[in-house]
Amino acid sequence: MPVHIKTADEIAGMRVAGRLAAELLDYLAPHVRPGVTTGRINDLAHRYMLDVQHTIPATLNYAPPGHSPYPASLCTSINHVVCHGIPGERKLKDGDIVNVDVTVIKDGFHGDSSRMFVAGKPSIQAKRLVELTYEAMWRGIRVVRPGARLGDIGAAIQRFAEGQGFSVVREFCGHGIGRQFHEEPQVLHYGRAGTGIELQAGMIFTIEPMINAGRPGIRCLADGWTIVTADHSLSAQWEHTILVTPEGYDVLTVSAGTPPPPAAA
Ligand code: MF3
Ligand code: CO
Ligand code: CO
Repeated sequence: MPVHIKTADEIAGMRVAGRLAAELLDYLAPHVRPGVTTGRINDLAHRYMLDVQHTIPATLNYAPPGHSPYPASLCTSINHVVCHGIPGERKLKDGDIVNVDVTVIKDGFHGDSSRMFVAGKPSIQAKRLVELTYEAMWRGIRVVRPGARLGDIGAAIQRFAEGQGFSVVREFCGHGIGRQFHEEPQVLHYGRAGTGIELQAGMIFTIEPMINAGRPGIRCLADGWTIVTADHSLSAQWEHTILVTPEGYDVLTVSAGTPPPPAAA
């Protein structure tokens, strides 16, 4: 399947969906604190999507081949959980780091973004992992322009993350997005510069590196969804949906509460 180049109308729809995903994270941010259950965060998000935004939670009952339907309206991934953590009775406690990953559908278009939150006061190591993973995502974003190659993105992320003594999860990647939740291309967060397809204006894809404090290996829990680090080290992730523009890139998942980009290296 070739990579779909979005029309002007599709780009307009994706801008709306992207903004709504970011606004949902803004809305959830003050609720992510010690004592709250991840199930409560999910319930708040679910109601906000349906009642306020009139968006559809793309993850609810999402069932790619070989998977049982995902049972929640967002993913909450705490500490050594890499991604796809299922919200439930677990209460956040002081020092936890948690990724909240939301995907909304508006008028058929998907907006996909995640942020890290810290409950209370994180350890110095946890805070460093969260901040450097944010910078890793941005190192990837800043490579995006027509004529760059997909491998340039992964190479930039990998070089930075490994240079900090961290590791890059290999099994999950960014993805094209539009009317489909996950479309071509796959956006690896590691790789070699100068390899992979050439980026063209009108492509839209996510960049969502999962960075581990320890080794890169992962395993999947018996629920069939929750991915954890094999060595139980901490893991962090951030995600934006990105449009390739004639000049470079545009981040679509932006809102008033989006954290500012890090200073350029
Ligand atoms: N939002 C995730 C992504 O960034 C996908 C979650 S799929 C789910 O691609 F089923 F686990 F929710
Ligand atoms: Co995604
Ligand atoms: Co996501």
